[in-house]
Amino acid sequence: MKKFFNTLTCLLLLISLKSVAQSEKYTAFEPGKIWKDDKGVHINAHGGGIIFHKGLYYWFGEHKIAGPRGNSAQVGVHAYSSKDLYNWKDEGIALQVSEDPASDIVKGSIIERPKVVYNKKTKKFVMWFHLELKGKGYAAAHAGVATADKINGPYKFIKSYRPNAGKMPFYPAGTPADKIVNCEKPANTYDGYFCRDLPGGQMARDMTVFIDDDGKAYHVFSAEENYTLNIAELSDDYTSHTGKFIRMYVGFQTEAPAVFKRNGKYYMIGSGCTGWDPNPARWFIADNIWGKWEYKGNPTIGEGSKLTYGGQSTHVLPVQGKKDAFIFMADKWTPKNPIDGRYLWLPITFKGDDIEISWKDSWDLKSFK
Ligand code: DGJ
Repeated sequence: MKKFFNTLTCLLLLISLKSVAQSEKYTAFEPGKIWKDDKGVHINAHGGGIIFHKGLYYWFGEHKIAGPRGNSAQVGVHAYSSKDLYNWKDEGIALQVSEDPASDIVKGSIIERPKVVYNKKTKKFVMWFHLELKGKGYAAAHAGVATADKINGPYKFIKSYRPNAGKMPFYPAGTPADKIVNCEKPANTYDGYFCRDLPGGQMARDMTVFIDDDGKAYHVFSAEENYTLNIAELSDDYTSHTGKFIRMYVGFQTEAPAVFKRNGKYYMIGSGCTGWDPNPARWFIADNIWGKWEYKGNPTIGEGSKLTYGGQSTHVLPVQGKKDAFIFMADKWTPKNPIDGRYLWLPITFKGDDIEISWKDSWDLKSFK
């Protein structure tokens, strides 16, 4: 009899646990709220990006910990997968920090804004990230790269460096001489930083990677003490820089770049440069990846838009199988307790070629036509 009651209690417990899990299935995005994974833990993938592979979305981001050290890399890059974009399965740590003090990615370094792309030629997954060497604050300003045979990893760290050492920017034919950086006589502070860094490579901080329709990859990063963005071509295997790059929006301190393409036009959404504090988002449009990029102002509207609703861009996600469906992904940082950082995902609305983003407490994919 006792055995029967024990089994019954176990069964009832299982049924109630199952119904809790089922009742927690998400059917909408709720920007800024705690967002639990399949284990019931708030998703830990900050400054992240998403790629779609074989029917699933994979989200990679910075694994933060609680407390003041939480913004340094104590664990690595966390991966999640999802079929529907609302419900995410914990896939574990894709890139682990190293225990070896000689490694660039030793525990206590800074690993930010990881982005994973797939190289069709090498059949490898390539992860780029912003890397700061342990104990050096934000002075190193390196781009780091790791590769894996499987999407969830383990990713093997390859190298970190400052890109495009000794290389001058690319300028379209007909660019006036006074618009071309002259390292004999730098015209302003930002040109000065560019020339200072020419021998050793350009600083590479906030970043993204964009793959064009022809399979070419571009690394977009804040350079020149964050004053200028660089858009730099990657090699065919996506693991190094070719030396071709442009300087974009020189001197205006753009961080947090996110690039996407629609109707043959290139879009970029970024932020200003105010540490972990929010500032107004900014967007740009171009007919060609090499420019000319036109500055278009703040894409966010309504209450809270002056501070991007408290967030900072990290990625723009094209939704599979839907036309003109792009999600603006932003982080709401919580530097005192980084693990509590929140995710602000909002739909992008198009007005002709222009974009607009407005706040929504709750929304779902049906809002895309
Ligand atoms: C803003 C950047 O966007 C973040 O990725 C991070 O580097 C913080 N600055 C550090 O203050």
